[in-house]
Amino acid sequence: MRIGIIGGGELGGSLAEWWEQAGHDVVVSAPAADQGLMRVVTATDAADFGDVVLFAPDWASAHSLIDATAGAMTGKPVLDATNPVIWTREHGYERAVPEGHSGIETLADWAPDAQWVKAFNTCSPSVLRRRRGRDPLLAEFICTDHRAARDAATRLIEDIGFAPFFAGGVTNACLTETGGPLQMLEVDVADATAVFAEAVSSGR
Ligand SMILES: NC(=O)c1ccc[n+]([C@@H]2O[C@H](COP(=O)([O-])OP(=O)(O)OC[C@H]3O[C@@H](n4cnc5c(N)ncnc54)[C@H](OP(=O)(O)O)[C@@H]3O)[C@@H](O)[C@H]2O)c1
Repeated sequence: MRIGIIGGGELGGSLAEWWEQAGHDVVVSAPAADQGLMRVVTATDAADFGDVVLFAPDWASAHSLIDATAGAMTGKPVLDATNPVIWTREHGYERAVPEGHSGIETLADWAPDAQWVKAFNTCSPSVLRRRRGRDPLLAEFICTDHRAARDAATRLIEDIGFAPFFAGGVTNACLTETGGPLQMLEVDVADATAVFAEAVSSGR
């Protein structure tokens, strides 16, 4: 599969490496990336290149990157790995979207023609690195309203050694993002149904 990555930092760069190892054709957009290690292109070219796009920049860059890439993402599955938080010296990390509205719903407002799917936003890259391909497999929660995006995310999660767990439509993404009960939770696939049910009943 051709994968265009927007934001090849700690998270996006790790996923790029693993998808390349799994045989996918990957390009990355990250202004400061080491060109020797990755195929680095502009954000628009990354969106253009991918059959599937991974959106993994810091949230402060998200809106301007969507403005630059929304056209190229039309009709494509776009995995959203962001958490909608902004860091300020004064307040530390703060949610940057209204309460009850998830980051992925905000991205879908900005780029409504992409097929958004939330994935890879609950665990740190170091946890992913430690757990990938090892039993018991780590559950990766995905939220989407699009069948093709769910299928693409499922395949890309399985290809690098995790277990996809469908957690419903994008309105459920609040459960997985910063402030939600699934954020930074390391969940074995066998426990995912119970953990997800508990997260839903504990509210958003
Ligand atoms: N790290 C985690 O533990 C973790 C876990 C789950 C979810 N997330 C989410 O994943 C996202 C990325 O996190 P991270 O830790 O990987 O952050 P990071 O290391 O700071 O990476 C952010 C990436 O976005 C790129 N970027 C910024 N402006 C850009 C632009 N105009 N065009 C193209 N690329 C641009 C940066 O490129 P340059 O470096 O070249 O400027 C960098 O590669 C965040 O939304 C975060 O909330 C992170």
